[in-house]
Amino acid sequence: MIHAATQKRFARVVALLLEWHRKNRRSFIWRGLKRTPYVVLVSEFMLQQTGTTQVENHLPKFLKTFPTVKRLAEAPRGEVIAAWQGLGYNRRAIHLHRAAQAIAHRGRFPKTAQDLQALPGIGRYTASAVLAFAHNADTAVVDVNIERVLSRIWKRMPDVSATLPIRAIYDLDAAILPAGRSSMWHEALMDLGATICTKKAPICGECPVSKHCASAHRMARPPREPTRSERRYFGEPRRIWRGRVLRVIAQNRSQTKNRSQTKNRSQTKNRSQTKIEIANELQNQFGKGGAEFRDFLDAILRLLLEEGFIESGKGGFSLAEQ
Ligand code: ADE
Repeated sequence: MIHAATQKRFARVVALLLEWHRKNRRSFIWRGLKRTPYVVLVSEFMLQQTGTTQVENHLPKFLKTFPTVKRLAEAPRGEVIAAWQGLGYNRRAIHLHRAAQAIAHRGRFPKTAQDLQALPGIGRYTASAVLAFAHNADTAVVDVNIERVLSRIWKRMPDVSATLPIRAIYDLDAAILPAGRSSMWHEALMDLGATICTKKAPICGECPVSKHCASAHRMARPPREPTRSERRYFGEPRRIWRGRVLRVIAQNRSQTKNRSQTKNRSQTKNRSQTKIEIANELQNQFGKGGAEFRDFLDAILRLLLEEGFIESGKGGFSLAEQ
């Protein structure tokens, strides 16, 4: 049950958001195309787990190769998979192909959420997106952006990662969506979610509906993750450990050389050290050891090998000779 007071508050939110969207709408290739159910189906399949830029790069060619649902249905599976390359999650190509075959077999595109959801690879989101974006039907549509935006406006979210259960958001959206403007409304929610009401760092100061939002300026944010160069490994940045490992390997070389100069000339060659010897030396010099440290040492040795500083042979690791 959605209270009358909630509906009234959201009437204002809807008006403000649609107004904001008129000026701030993101433009995407699929938004500029004639949005037939087929075009929406293909683009939403692509958007399921792939970023918008990549979909923009692949959608036109895919639609040129398979301009209608019938042409897609008639194509051999291998051709559909080949056309899908670059989008990832190839199973989606197989589902889309099978869905097209089912639609072609019936001879018409399903017009209800229930019939759409009976097709392979189509869940509640994709079914409602086809109805809203191709037919402008007054159907609730909830993707992750919409779930987050509506949760925050409706109830106070304790932190930026909290949302309400998706079912509650479907009910809310069904109660507040502006009749006859479903397509615009859901695009507006998606665009606000992608540009202002973002997951990690919402910009409430620039949000057109912050005055009506239960969470604006009030959500806790997790502390920022250290950047790559700020990250510490056993108390030091990784580059420091790389330098230390290389020095241990180099020290061994000069020690061998000094000894050989006084005793045996034939031993001037770079002597190798096993990983255990290197780990022991690091333990002696820097007091760090244990299984976790040895895993870290593995990674450092791999890096030094890849970068050509060291080489590995039967006896272990030594400075690269060439
Ligand atoms: N417009 C319609 N569907 C969309 C989606 N899934 N992501 C971004 N913009 C869209």
